[in-house]
Amino acid sequence: MNTVLMDTILHDPNTNTPSLILDFNVIQQTYTRFLDAFPGGQIFYAMKANANPQVVQLVVDRQGGLEIASLAELERSLDAGATGEQIICSNPIKNPVFLQRMHQAGVYAMVVDSTYEVEKVAQYAPGSRVYVRLAVDNHGSVLPLAGKFGVSGDEALELFDLARDLGLQPIGLSFHVGSQCLSVNNWVNAVRTCGEVWREAEARGHEFFFLDIGGGFPAGHYHDESIPTIERIGALSMEAIEEFIPPVPNLMLVLEPGRGLVGESGRLLTTVVGKAKRGDAMWLYLDAGVFNGLMETYEGFPPVVSLLDEPTDYETERYTLAGPSCDSCDVIARNLLMPEINIGDKLVFFDAGAYTNEYAVAFNGFPIPSVIALNAEREVALA
Ligand SMILES: Cc1ncc(COP(=O)(O)O)c(C=O)c1O
Repeated sequence: MNTVLMDTILHDPNTNTPSLILDFNVIQQTYTRFLDAFPGGQIFYAMKANANPQVVQLVVDRQGGLEIASLAELERSLDAGATGEQIICSNPIKNPVFLQRMHQAGVYAMVVDSTYEVEKVAQYAPGSRVYVRLAVDNHGSVLPLAGKFGVSGDEALELFDLARDLGLQPIGLSFHVGSQCLSVNNWVNAVRTCGEVWREAEARGHEFFFLDIGGGFPAGHYHDESIPTIERIGALSMEAIEEFIPPVPNLMLVLEPGRGLVGESGRLLTTVVGKAKRGDAMWLYLDAGVFNGLMETYEGFPPVVSLLDEPTDYETERYTLAGPSCDSCDVIARNLLMPEINIGDKLVFFDAGAYTNEYAVAFNGFPIPSVIALNAEREVALA
């Protein structure tokens, strides 16, 4: 997956660390793969994964959509030239100022998953199109999102009726199978549940056309074949949609990939700045840690990492990788088998295009990774 240009930048002694190197060719190719794998589907990129203005611009330039969570993401979408029709909001919790601004901007539709939220949307964004987020099985995903959001089918039906009574336009359903979801059945089962709720809603007089199958598309099949591809998830999801969703002439099939669209485009280049033997463990301290780029490892996401220019044949050692800050929770991974590594060596984290800089803060004064954009279609200044 490393291109020649990526390799050149990784090996360039002038490339500072930590750096997040994004290859926009990979994002473009992945964008096309999604459209091919889900015929008729529309991408609403979950920009929380990587709100870099050039990434947002790439989507908008293709007439794609954006899934936003906040006022700042809305403004960035509009700055990139997105129209309201190209924006949806799947964050179930929205404050009044955000709702009013979305209403003013003509955001296409927004999610609700509680009576309080339905009332809030009716008050601050009257007449909006709304969809309900169903709680679905998140087992098999590396970072489950279940519990915090989503409702049962029965609750969804109550919310549709309430929304209609308050002058909103209920249009359909959404779900999220959990991030880096490795179980294709999660999508299939979730679509089946959507079909059941959809039929019951129709019986109550609702007319639906909107099915949002969320994010969760995993990165990394190219180095681990057990990880399902976009194509496989697409094939099985499309079959399930055909089988379970009542036929409507104008079905709007929405995909909200975050990691799946941008994850594989990025490499995080770091330098080993310290080494220590503590008990049986050999510790390596890097210039990026859980605060400044590798937060997902703290959430339990196993990093895919290697020494830049790993020898083909080597004696392994067992390492604990940690970040540079003084906080004891700043540990990236334990018990990693790697070749001998010394201070000054560089380590590369793969699939780092998503949730790296978005999560990063300069805690203790350690900088967040600088972004290097390869093959970007055009320069975009921050507004
Ligand atoms: C509502 C919603 N949609 C899409 C996404 C993107 O998920 P992923 O990066 O797993 O594709 C998220 C991530 O948290 C989300 O909350």
